[in-house]
Amino acid sequence: MKFICDVGKSLAAAALAVNAVVAASPAQHVFAPFQKPLEALSSSSPLSSRPATASLVDDAKWQRIESMAALPNYQLRIKQPHLCETNSTQYSGYLDTAEDRHFFFWFFESRSGQRDAPVILWMNGGPGCSSFTGLLMELGPCRVDKGGQSASFNRYGWDEQAHVIFLDQPLNVGFSYGKDVFNSMAAGKDVYSFLQLFYHSFPEYASSELHIFGESYGGHYVPAAGKAIHEANLEFSEKLSLNSLTAAEREKRVLPLASIGVGNGLTDPLIQYKYYSQMACNSTYEPVLRQEQCDRMDASYPTCARLIEACYKWQNSLACLPAQSYCNSMLSTYQQSGANPYDVRIPCEGGNLCYPIMGDIDKYLNNPDVQKDLGSDVDKFESCSQKVYSGFWLSGDWMKPYVREIPPLLEAGIRVLIYAGDADFICNWYGNKAWSEALEWSGKESFAGLADQSWLVDGKAAGEARSFKNFSFLRVFGAGHMVPYDQPENSLDMINRWISNKPFY
Ligand SMILES: *[C@@H]1O[C@H](CO)[C@@H](O)[C@H](O)[C@H]1NC(C)=O
Ligand SMILES: *[C@@H]1O[C@H](CO)[C@@H](O)[C@H](O)[C@H]1NC(C)=O
Ligand SMILES: *[C@@H]1O[C@H](CO)[C@@H](O)[C@H](O)[C@H]1NC(C)=O
Repeated sequence: MKFICDVGKSLAAAALAVNAVVAASPAQHVFAPFQKPLEALSSSSPLSSRPATASLVDDAKWQRIESMAALPNYQLRIKQPHLCETNSTQYSGYLDTAEDRHFFFWFFESRSGQRDAPVILWMNGGPGCSSFTGLLMELGPCRVDKGGQSASFNRYGWDEQAHVIFLDQPLNVGFSYGKDVFNSMAAGKDVYSFLQLFYHSFPEYASSELHIFGESYGGHYVPAAGKAIHEANLEFSEKLSLNSLTAAEREKRVLPLASIGVGNGLTDPLIQYKYYSQMACNSTYEPVLRQEQCDRMDASYPTCARLIEACYKWQNSLACLPAQSYCNSMLSTYQQSGANPYDVRIPCEGGNLCYPIMGDIDKYLNNPDVQKDLGSDVDKFESCSQKVYSGFWLSGDWMKPYVREIPPLLEAGIRVLIYAGDADFICNWYGNKAWSEALEWSGKESFAGLADQSWLVDGKAAGEARSFKNFSFLRVFGAGHMVPYDQPENSLDMINRWISNKPFY
């Protein structure tokens, strides 16, 4: 019983970690290494409002239930909500699996009216945060109004030239529910099955290219989903060419994965944890900490790096938990400073979440009328689940090298965009740029040797970019962790150029 043994050890290690991080605060909403994981586990379960099994769910509210022989035990329940004041077609519903797993999605057809517009799948991070925070405060076709009673049209929504799917994953995030899964790799496989059923159920988008995008802890999810899709595509193509597909399998397809993208992500912790001191004391904005505080961070980095190297080598919770607790405790001085970890320019306001709009999103999605229109089986919405956060924390997923999933994608011709708002502390642009330059792929030297070029939007400098072959890094000026929230117009320019394969400079 190896697994049970491992879990026991990781619980013990995590308990030590919690004692070490005494300065831990309550929940933060995205990628929050400060919070106390065990407190959440022992508190009453936020999942108590979720239906125990799908059989208790009212099927009458769905307009369609789709399945495919190639994915036995999977189904997609679909309805059409009328929220968000957009005039384009919307769908929402669940991907169900026989193992009591139910993933909620909300889809918007592009308001361009173009049927073969690309499809973007969007995932927020946390771990444990709902992708509807991204929808309602960042890139969705509407933004929640102050007070959370309604949501209004967002002209900078990424649906301008793309169909956009917001997926609540991993399980027990947002309106998703079921058995827990606390690792990004397993979550990636669920994304693959979801997309197979999506393309099957909506054949009208069959020729739409697919782009997988995410933010923050999405720096784990996105490479994992990219890997799952790419490897399943290869396997499927091989069987297709050998003519060895069963009749049922022929219902599947090669998913048209064109690119992946990560905004202010955590992808290569070994490199990224080196750059917190620079962001806190010597960024392009006012310093947040005193130099001696940053010197202490720098002094801790070699130990942190040794621990992360062990995690990279063994990739299990036993090796990864010490890195996670030691390295994240380096960040407590920043958190005590009262500055916003997602934006060095501003204080953390509006409670634990640092952005008052997050409270409005909670209000909006807890409105019974909204939930009814969406078809949610879950009647209590939380922007971020403490339980999922804690589960990921205890699993040791945090420090694992998801960066290693990226080179095979690049070599296979799948484009990769790494972008970062340059005021974010927690997944800052220095660290993201540094790992982008260090990435081991055939274009490494050429990419690292490039000079950054100005990215202009309407003649104004919106950031700096570099691209070599299929790989681009983009620094976004004047944006914190949530780029589309801070720079809506520029972020729309970014995504529109990217999906139409136009250069940034
Ligand atoms: C939706 O359509 C109505 C009626 O044609 C129009 O008044 C409104 O401006 C449209 N909204 C958007 C967001 O395009
Ligand atoms: C601050 O950053 C600049 C430019 O990157 C660098 O030249 C300088 O040495 C840094 N200062 C400190 C104290 O690290
Ligand atoms: C992207 O990668 C593929 C496969 O390596 C290559 O054929 C293609 O030329 C690359 N695209 C660019 C713009 O270099």
